[in-house]
Amino acid sequence: MSNYLSADTRKITTARLLEMKRKEEKISMITSYDFSMARLADAAMVDAILVGDSAANVMAGHATTLPITLDQMIYHAQCVVRGVQRAFVVVDLPFGTYQGDSIEALKSAVRVMKETGADCLKMEGGAEIRESVERILSAGIPVMAHLGLTPQSINKFGSYGVRAQGEAEARKLREDALLLESLGCCALVLEKIPASLAEEVSKTLSIPVIGIGAGRKVDGQVLVLQDMLGITQGFSPKFLRRYANLGEEIKDAINRYVSDVKTLDFPNESEQY
Ligand code: KIV
Repeated sequence: MSNYLSADTRKITTARLLEMKRKEEKISMITSYDFSMARLADAAMVDAILVGDSAANVMAGHATTLPITLDQMIYHAQCVVRGVQRAFVVVDLPFGTYQGDSIEALKSAVRVMKETGADCLKMEGGAEIRESVERILSAGIPVMAHLGLTPQSINKFGSYGVRAQGEAEARKLREDALLLESLGCCALVLEKIPASLAEEVSKTLSIPVIGIGAGRKVDGQVLVLQDMLGITQGFSPKFLRRYANLGEEIKDAINRYVSDVKTLDFPNESEQY
């Protein structure tokens, strides 16, 4: 079993993420939505924890990320922040809380930062959300951008397939990435795009580029925790590596418990007062 434990236990900041990019030290990011998992991820020395709006899928069972509310994201982020000492905590601004109205966007952003103690916000989109990104950045709130497959736009895309395979979409992605960096975003997530395009963007930008389904030639990787632990059922995209099969282990443990209760094996004499 390989084991990576960094000796550096200092809190990860935007400056540290930039330094990691400069030193070509890869950034590890994972999602978490609750205190227990965030505490384990932090103890395992993950560099960044994303309180993703994927909570809508893996926590609440919705088919898309669209239904999750700002209040629900704030609740998840509060739980995560309580479990974290070192990792950089990023919170997704949910669908409908920042697109279109930059004043509303700033209000949403300020609520998340004030009520959770997170380090950064993540926002999906490029030029079309420029005003919101600028206003939030002007309040001193770090923003991680997100391009490529942006799940909040699933109804526009029509599928969760690979994005930016054609020249027009790839060109827009390149332009958006440069724009978001020039506005002052501290990092960029690229989801499900060709590895060659992700590599090119990562080489062009000086901010860290964190990929999911974007190949290895970027500055870091992010996965959804329940997916990589094998808890999510019926979801196995090519980019997903499963590091455990906890879904089966959890089912088996609960099934053994049920059996022990039914057969009066649990509790035994040493497990009672
Ligand atoms: O919400 C999420 O989990 C995400 C990651 C897939 C990057 O945005």
